[in-house]
Amino acid sequence: MKTLQLGQSALEVSRLALGCMRMASLDLEEAKQVIQTSLDLGINFFDHADIYGKGQSERLFGQAIKDMGIDRERLMIQSKCGIRQGFFDFSKEHILQSVDGILERLQTDYLDLLVLHRPDTLWEPEEVAETFTYLKEQGKVRHFGLSNVNRYQFEHLQAYMDQPLLVNQLQFSLVHTPMIDSGLQVNMLSDGATNRDGGILDYCRLHGVTIQAWSPFMIDLVKGTFFDHPDYPELNQVLRELATAKGVSVEAIATAFILRHPAKMQVILGSMNPDRLRNIAKASEIELDRKEWYRLYLAAGKFLP
Ligand SMILES: NC(=O)c1ccc[n+]([C@@H]2O[C@H](COP(=O)([O-])OP(=O)(O)OC[C@H]3O[C@@H](n4cnc5c(N)ncnc54)[C@H](OP(=O)(O)O)[C@@H]3O)[C@@H](O)[C@H]2O)c1
Repeated sequence: MKTLQLGQSALEVSRLALGCMRMASLDLEEAKQVIQTSLDLGINFFDHADIYGKGQSERLFGQAIKDMGIDRERLMIQSKCGIRQGFFDFSKEHILQSVDGILERLQTDYLDLLVLHRPDTLWEPEEVAETFTYLKEQGKVRHFGLSNVNRYQFEHLQAYMDQPLLVNQLQFSLVHTPMIDSGLQVNMLSDGATNRDGGILDYCRLHGVTIQAWSPFMIDLVKGTFFDHPDYPELNQVLRELATAKGVSVEAIATAFILRHPAKMQVILGSMNPDRLRNIAKASEIELDRKEWYRLYLAAGKFLP
């Protein structure tokens, strides 16, 4: 398993992480199997959020690692908070309450990373920074990050922090590439030229922030994944061709597409199927060349000027 240094920290983490959003649908034995498979594959990073399964994903995970007797220090556990029923909440009171709930459900004393899930426009960055410092001093959280934020939101909070924010979790996949499209179509009148994120990709590269790519295979919640999806015949054709040529699965090729980008993203996988995880992990053993990478990009219906 390939690893990366997370943000500007000394933490060495697997480039593939297990996203636990869907863990709530498993029973305890199945959850243990998925966790064990991940560890066997060299995946040491687990992404949670307080809202996944209304806390049930964290509860199952916490029980599973306790039953399995896994040494806590072997795992990098991240969770997210800030999304509430019908609103977003980055207040000190809510963040502190959320962290206590997360730690209790995960049956652990600390989080390796706490990430704020989606921007709350009513936030006070100074208050958030103060809350983070307090959580660190209390030993409850070691590192911090943000999710779904643009360059200026990231910079705004960083300005008040005395330690670097390590990650920005953003949607990215073969079929969801606005971060890249706008950089390829600078100053054009095409739709893809629209800069939706303040240049977050280049910002993160310049400042050593790790982008965590979420939903690496999903089109959306209704359509499901792009594998064999009728909206993407050309993409699936090229995925199959490259998979055959390299002796891996189409899932591994789609993952390698993300890993190949020099931004060194971490991929947050959502599959709860051990066989699929084993197939996907082979992405770590191959590398796409420039021509293959652009061929996939174009086959997904993207445009080059
Ligand atoms: N920060 C945010 O706002 C945000 C938002 C969404 C998600 N996330 C994080 O990102 C993680 C991944 O999200 P995701 O679950 O949407 O990602 P995904 O890996 O793109 O999708 C996984 C889903 O696709 C299904 N699937 C069907 N065919 C598949 C195939 N051939 N290969 C792989 N999966 C296939 C999986 O089912 P099986 O389980 O049966 O394989 C699973 O339900 C989440 O767990 C969460 O940690 C973050």
